[in-house]
Amino acid sequence: AEKNALPVVIWLHGHECTGCDESFLRSETPLTSDVVLNMISLEYSHALSASAGEPFEAHLHEIMEQFKGKYILAVEGAVATADNGIYCMTGGRPFVEVVKEVAKNAAAIIEYGSCATWGGIQAAKPNPTGSVSVTDVVGNKPIVKVPGCPPIPEVMTGVIMHYALFGQLPPLDSEGRPKQFFANRIHDTCYRRPFFDAGMFAEKFDDAGSKAGWCLYKLGCRGPETYNSCGNMRWWNGLSYPIQSGHGCIGCSNPNFWDDAPFYNR
Ligand code: SF4
Ligand code: SF4
Ligand code: F3S
Repeated sequence: AEKNALPVVIWLHGHECTGCDESFLRSETPLTSDVVLNMISLEYSHALSASAGEPFEAHLHEIMEQFKGKYILAVEGAVATADNGIYCMTGGRPFVEVVKEVAKNAAAIIEYGSCATWGGIQAAKPNPTGSVSVTDVVGNKPIVKVPGCPPIPEVMTGVIMHYALFGQLPPLDSEGRPKQFFANRIHDTCYRRPFFDAGMFAEKFDDAGSKAGWCLYKLGCRGPETYNSCGNMRWWNGLSYPIQSGHGCIGCSNPNFWDDAPFYNR
């Protein structure tokens, strides 16, 4: 009975690379194992469930019936819509059908990663699979968008923990992202920012300025227009983030970053 008091989560994978799962698994505060084993009841996950095949699909339908209107749907990946969705199949069916079916009676939907939130790399021109965001196909539901390719581990666990602790989605910005993690631009908290302000820019990757911490703006850094927590939270429990490793931000949490912000150019 106690288990059923935890929020029931159904986690679907669509048109994606599983990088978001890889990120989620590496959360340290809270530990992913604590979240999955103690804070939520993860009933269906393509990556983490031990089951497979027909019993697994039957379990999905049992859970959807038993927790109708109460379960959380987490989605990783875009939705392929071209040619009736045949470019992304799951459980023998087009993913677009499955995600619509599961979304129908979900209490809320978490879109994990830039594929689910904006369509992702799969939606890059000319987008032969007709990939779109989850929002584009599920209609009017309570949705939280958690962009990033992938999102930071603690951002992923933080969002689901908010629901587990408070029974509702966290406060969102006008784009549907949790304000707690997406209120700042990378540029606002970047440790190279003093060099930007002083007009000191690296001209080439690995030049002396780059190594001395000068700003990567001229090398194409999209930090000034990218909302994410990389500058203050960093990755792997605060260890580093792209800019700290000498590469500009590519704006991986932004809508259409793959087409709108050519890498390495400004
Ligand atoms: Fe992979 Fe990026 Fe899509 Fe996540 S958002 S599934 S990391 S391509
Ligand atoms: Fe801004 Fe990028 Fe320069 Fe950092 S490296 S100060 S984010 S432009
Ligand atoms: Fe992505 Fe930029 Fe952070 S590329 S990982 S948002 S620094």
